[in-house]
Amino acid sequence: MKKITIAIDGYSSTGKSTVAKQLADHLGYVYVDSGAMYRAVTLYAMQHGIISESNFDTEKLIESLSSIQLKFIKEANWNKAHIFLNGKDVENEIRNLEVSKYVSPIATIHEVRVKLVAQQQLMGLEKGVVMDGRDIGTVVFPNAELKIFMNASANERAQRRYKELIARGETVDFKDVLKNIQDRDRIDTTRDDSPLRKATDAIEIDNSEMNLEDQFHTVLQLAKDRIAGRV
Ligand code: CDP
Repeated sequence: MKKITIAIDGYSSTGKSTVAKQLADHLGYVYVDSGAMYRAVTLYAMQHGIISESNFDTEKLIESLSSIQLKFIKEANWNKAHIFLNGKDVENEIRNLEVSKYVSPIATIHEVRVKLVAQQQLMGLEKGVVMDGRDIGTVVFPNAELKIFMNASANERAQRRYKELIARGETVDFKDVLKNIQDRDRIDTTRDDSPLRKATDAIEIDNSEMNLEDQFHTVLQLAKDRIAGRV
């Protein structure tokens, strides 16, 4: 069967990764979480004193980029690939609110984006890939056969992310989670390089009122139509 490229973009915590993963599993495609790559670079910067409350050394990060190796590895008993930063599994560590606080400023740096976009494009060379992020349909795969743009209200998104963090055992305040989402939305949509925006040929889905099953079936139908060449 013909393989296509599926790009899923949208605001923070819109459930992009959930639907992307479901779709990839169902179609036997590779799922790539591009946000995990920006998060892993951020973790590196935090661990090396490059970014902190009082410091943001862009030059040092750019100089360090050649020392940052990112790799996705999937073991049979994991339900998704984990991201490895210089040989270490950081899948869990990159999801905390501290990383979320610094990731969007890091993602504005042109040199960071050039490095990660090149790696993402290599992963998509053979098609049969579902990738989620902010610039997948606009920059990484502008020729993707299916582009989805996901949205939901900021409050709904913050509720979802808050529940996720609490379930992972983190101690967080709802207002901090909401503020982080609003800050990231602002930085991601206003940056000069590859701002988050809906590609002109993307299909927008607002899932504020949709359950996971409805959302999955809507997107799956769109994918099946594209694979069959019906649209
Ligand atoms: O899962 P969540 O919605 O919190 O975000 P993510 O997909 O893990 O992405 C974290 C951050 O990385 C975003 O807020 C963006 O600043 C950045 N990002 C990006 O600039 N481009 C991408 N393709 C993916 C993520």
